[in-house]
Formats: sequence, structure tokens, C-alpha cells
Amino acid sequence: MSTYLEQLETPVPVVDLDRLSLNLDRMAAYVTLHGLRLRPHVKTHKSPRIAADQLRLGAVGLTCATLREAEVMSDVCDDLLLAYPPIGAARLERMAKLPPEVRVSVALDDALALDALNVAARLGHRTFNVLVEADLGMHRVGVATSDKAVAIAQQVQRYSALTFGGLLFYPGHIREAVADQGAALSQLGADIAGYRNALTAVGLPPHVVSGGSTPAAWRMHEIPGVTEVRPGTYVYNDRTTARVGACDWDDCALTVLATVISTSVKGQVVVDAGTKSLGREPLPADGEGYGALLDHPEVVVSRMSEEHGVLDISRSTFRPRLGDQVRIVPNHVCIVVHLFDEIIGVRGHAVETRWPVAARGRAPSHDFADIGPRGVRRR
Ligand SMILES: Cc1ncc(COP(=O)(O)O)c(C=O)c1O
Repeated sequence: MSTYLEQLETPVPVVDLDRLSLNLDRMAAYVTLHGLRLRPHVKTHKSPRIAADQLRLGAVGLTCATLREAEVMSDVCDDLLLAYPPIGAARLERMAKLPPEVRVSVALDDALALDALNVAARLGHRTFNVLVEADLGMHRVGVATSDKAVAIAQQVQRYSALTFGGLLFYPGHIREAVADQGAALSQLGADIAGYRNALTAVGLPPHVVSGGSTPAAWRMHEIPGVTEVRPGTYVYNDRTTARVGACDWDDCALTVLATVISTSVKGQVVVDAGTKSLGREPLPADGEGYGALLDHPEVVVSRMSEEHGVLDISRSTFRPRLGDQVRIVPNHVCIVVHLFDEIIGVRGHAVETRWPVAARGRAPSHDFADIGPRGVRRR
């Protein structure tokens, strides 16, 4: 028997399968056209099912932030990049235990990390490939000068279980509209040239220069020297992505399906999606709320409690009634995905499939394999 959106219990994340396919195809075509390699970040979907589609469409590997992501994705991919500093014994132990057939690269910004990384690799009877992360404007992590990058790359050479792979940067500071990114991209190009020249001068040319985010994804080919890109959000897109023009509103593939649960306070409509479904991610400008209706983008979620979202209907003639369903485009889709166990795949109003958000959480992926549905460990 088929199921329709109207029969689903809300709030629930719903993915339009046609839009998802288009988003995957568009990025695959873009990188092919420009001779770039695609290593998508899985933090957006956290699902082996979508990762497998990305790989089928030509992605050379996957990018992960957490060890849970890496463990889950190692089922479908044998070339993983941990774009997260490998600091702490527990993290290193899990890295070393990733399946031996998986090639593991890791981004880091401090030579102090190398000793422990090398020990972990040797204990795990494997090697790790190191990319030096450079801070090219985001000011989150990354070395600040090419001298420091050279020092780390040279240090890597001294460890038997480590190899030097190249350079990595994350242009998360580029948040302007796609059409206005020219100056920031030129600056990135100049900075990357400086790093490349310095590394090449000591005989360590960076074979990989890994960059990219979704807002800057469509102009990465304009930066000379970039070899691979790591967008994540592009699979589903969200209000932030649409706002900078990195996708159209119709490319937003994931919405939170919610039900109107109260209209009794004058001038407002309340739905059953609050912070525990939408997160509390602001947009850069004040007063734009925490999500907007797919079919009426002028209606925004203006206030939230944990399980309540207040729709601001003052700029719209749309008047949803008690019990009606609405589809909310979140401000930041990656947070929403992480809040749910399962995603519903729909075509039109028909529910076609569902899949688990298998890599959510932090626990080792094998930890819960023996735990039954009631949380009782099986013998
Ligand atoms: C290191 C790194 N690479 C790639 C990405 C993907 O960028 P986006 O979310 O804009 O697609 C992120 C996002 O947080 C990141 O932190």
C-alpha cells in the first residue's frame, strides 16, 4: 500500500528525490567540466546510500569530520579524508582501526600532532596520508604562513608511517553572493600560489590542493592550482545556500514536514517543528527567522520553543489551518539531518523510500550492533 506525505507523523525530514538527483548530477557535471576531483563532505547527509550515489557519479573519495562518519562510510568507500585535526588518543585509536583497505588522509595544522599520528599508524600497521591545512581567511584552524606549512611537510618526511599528500583549505569565510566572490577568489588564488611555490621550492610540491564549500563551489575552477573540492551542503541545499545564489529555491531538496497545531493566538500560526527539528541557526540578517515555507517563502519561522515553531504570516495572504501540513526549508540543513534518525524520500506526494542517518552521533559504529530495539544488550 502506498503512503503519502499526508499520512506521515510530523515533524519529519522529507527529501524530494528528483531534486536530490539533480543536485548530485549538477555537481558531478561541474567538476567533470572543469577537470576537478570531487570529494564531497558527508556531514550533510551522513548516509552511505547518498555517498554511494556520489561515488557512482565519479567522486574520488569522501570527506568526513567525525570518526563515526569515517567508520560508517568505510563500508562504501576506500578513500577517506578526515578534514578534522587528529588530536586526542581516542580519536587516533579509532583512526588506526579503520578497515586496513581504506586509504586514510588527514588534515592537520601542527607538527606536534605528527608524533602521535605516526605511532597510531604504526600500531595499526598502516599509513596515514597528511594534508597540511592552511588558514586562507576563515580563521578557524590552519597554519598562518607557508613557512609553517613547509616545516610540517618536511617533518612528515621523517616519519615512516606518514606520507605527505598536499595542501587543504576551507573557504568558509566566503559567504557573499556567488556573483560577488571575485575578489575573495583572487585572494585565495594568490595565497595558494604562495604555498605551492614554497612547498615546491623544498622539493615537496603539493599533489593535492583540496578546497571548496557549497557557497563557493561553482567558482572553484577559477582558482589556479585547486585539484579537488569538498562541498557537502549541495546535496540538499538550504535557505543559506539559496540566499547566496549557490542554488535556486527549487533546488532545496530537504524540507521539514510539519503540522499546524494551533492558531488560537491571534495573528500567528504554530507548527510542531521547533529547535529540536530545525536547530536554531540564524541567517546573517536579523529578523529572517529560522526557516521558511517551501511553497510560501515569505512565511518564516520567527520564534521557536523546543517543539513549537511560530510562523510569521504578517507578510503573506497564506493562512494555513489547524491540522494542515507545511514544508519548511531550514536555514542550515546539516543541523536538521543530525537531529533525526531517518529521512523520508518522496516523489511528489508519494513516499517512495526511507533511509537511516547512519553516521549521526559520535559512538563507534559497531558499538550498538549488538543492542536490541529496547536498548538491552543482546547476548
Ligand atoms: C573542512 C570542511 N570542508 C568542506 C566542508 C563543506 O562545506 P559546505 O557545508 O559549504 O558544503 C566543510 C563544512 O563545514 C568543512 O568544514
